[in-house]
Amino acid sequence: MYIPEEKISEILNTSDIVDIVSESVILKKSGRNFFGLCPFHSEKTPSFSVNADKQIFHCFGCSAGGNALSFVMKYHGISFLEAVRMLARKYNIVIETELIDPVRRKEVLVKESLFRLNKRVMVFYAGFLSDRSRGGGARSYLEKRGVTTDIIEKFNLGVSRDVWDAAVNFLKKEKVTRTIAVNSGLILSRKQDNGYYDRFRNRLMFPIFDINMQVAGFGGRVMDDSMPKYMNSPETPVYSKSKILYGLHAAKQYCRREGVVYIVEGYFDFLSLYQHGIKNTVASLGTALTQEHVRILKGYASKMVLVFDSDDAGINAAKRSIQIFMKEGVDTRILVLPGKNDPDSFVMKHGQASFLSLAAEAKTIMQFLLELAIDTHGLSVEGRIKVLDEMKLHLALIHDSALRSLYVRELSETLNIDEKAVLEKVRDAFVQNNTKKSPLMPEDHDKHLVSDPRERQILSIMLNYPKLIPEMVKRDVVSYFYSERFQGIAKKIIATELDKDGFVTNVMAKIDDNKDQELIASLAMDDFSGDEDMAQTTHVLMNRIIKIRKKNENILTTKIISAEKGCDADVTELLKQKQQEIQQLHDGQQL
Ligand code: GTP
Ligand code: MN
Repeated sequence: MYIPEEKISEILNTSDIVDIVSESVILKKSGRNFFGLCPFHSEKTPSFSVNADKQIFHCFGCSAGGNALSFVMKYHGISFLEAVRMLARKYNIVIETELIDPVRRKEVLVKESLFRLNKRVMVFYAGFLSDRSRGGGARSYLEKRGVTTDIIEKFNLGVSRDVWDAAVNFLKKEKVTRTIAVNSGLILSRKQDNGYYDRFRNRLMFPIFDINMQVAGFGGRVMDDSMPKYMNSPETPVYSKSKILYGLHAAKQYCRREGVVYIVEGYFDFLSLYQHGIKNTVASLGTALTQEHVRILKGYASKMVLVFDSDDAGINAAKRSIQIFMKEGVDTRILVLPGKNDPDSFVMKHGQASFLSLAAEAKTIMQFLLELAIDTHGLSVEGRIKVLDEMKLHLALIHDSALRSLYVRELSETLNIDEKAVLEKVRDAFVQNNTKKSPLMPEDHDKHLVSDPRERQILSIMLNYPKLIPEMVKRDVVSYFYSERFQGIAKKIIATELDKDGFVTNVMAKIDDNKDQELIASLAMDDFSGDEDMAQTTHVLMNRIIKIRKKNENILTTKIISAEKGCDADVTELLKQKQQEIQQLHDGQQL
């Protein structure tokens, strides 16, 4: 590691994990901890906790855990170094770049250059749009579509020129290196290998921001009927389509406030809703929504409304997205707009109030699917059976049994089929679903935790009652640990200065391994409130650990010695093997 430990400690001690996590997870205080929905696995009731005193997070559901840095890494999918720099920037802490490992340093620098470049190009495109002589066509296109100047400025819209080398020349002039220029996706190399040309020509340009308000990429729309209608930046080191939602950077505060987010498909859908005061909106940009998208959105709103056009493409898109939302267990509504409208044309014609009153009556996923199935099969006897066969598959995906039985009742009433019969069908489908999954893959998140619970407890006490550490050092209890992993962690805890603030924070700063960080976060969350005499408990624990180890060693060594004396090579070998096995078992790393 190239960044000194003190620097990392400084960052961890300056930053506030509650602040940092709050940017992406809705947290509520409960006792000494904050709780929210875990952004790292799907859940309906919060088991993700943040502790402000210890500056750690831990999920009781999926056992993800760590400190502010590991949260930022995991949440944004970035490297340790980027996380360090992100927090350092946020809290105005200076890090000299020479300190950084050259390979990683390069990655970080590439990303930073791409963001910088995109921002300059955004200004470049916006410049053309406001240019008196050159931007006229694009401005009247926007005017025709009813987009206000406020919106144009707020979302930094621009236009690319109708030539092959505007961006190419701009990048040259700005002395952007070839690698960065090509990496940005803004220019493409010519087939005959003689130079480059612009990807975006004569298009209305939409910069796409990430949550941190950095320009990740661009979308461009033609201003006539030519094809393709839209073009987007390719995937780059800073633009990942499965993660970015258009407009979230501006919408997030409104999503939090309303507790609802509207998900639309297009740039103009987003802009028009925003312009009409429906600011808690994001656009998926026509790509299929991913689990990552939904998890990100969960951090801003608990209810999601998918808004679709009523044409076949819209209905199909709705059907495709639904599975993801069901799996994530979010309260999702489907709003299919009437007539031939998309959200943009609807709100432009009918205004905010009409949109909101339609939205208030948006259907639940099950209502939507049920109506769709009835439309397809009708309500004849055969039709109703087909509807039931289709619906049972959807219902079987719902893991919450209370919710499932509510839908079963609704379905039986609508189809006028006996509730028991419906239930039976759904149950069959449910069983089938769940036996398909391999029974050999239980959700065993952390094999490492399989080891002597007493050793684990000692670590936990070290973290929660650091005052007791000197006594542990005196007894040298750690050297009796079977688990080498626990031993390693214990040594790092012991090496951490005691009388400083933020003990757990400083311990964390010493730990590189992600699994170890998770372990520490989970240990530090242990609740000892029932235990009055911690010193006594520790004393008993230490005695047990030491005694057991000594006893086991004695038995084994005696046997090995006597076997060796009797020259029983096979037995000696076996016993040695046994000794190793015990060791491995305690390390919890059986292969
Ligand atoms: P307008 O015609 O400008 O109102 O666009 P729209 O948003 O109503 O278009 P549509 O419903 O056809 O598409 C929704 C979104 O899908 C667009 O905003 C784009 O992000 C994306 N999209 C549409 N057409 C294309 C295309 O030809 N190529 C790519 N890459 N994306 C497209
Ligand atoms: Mn449209």
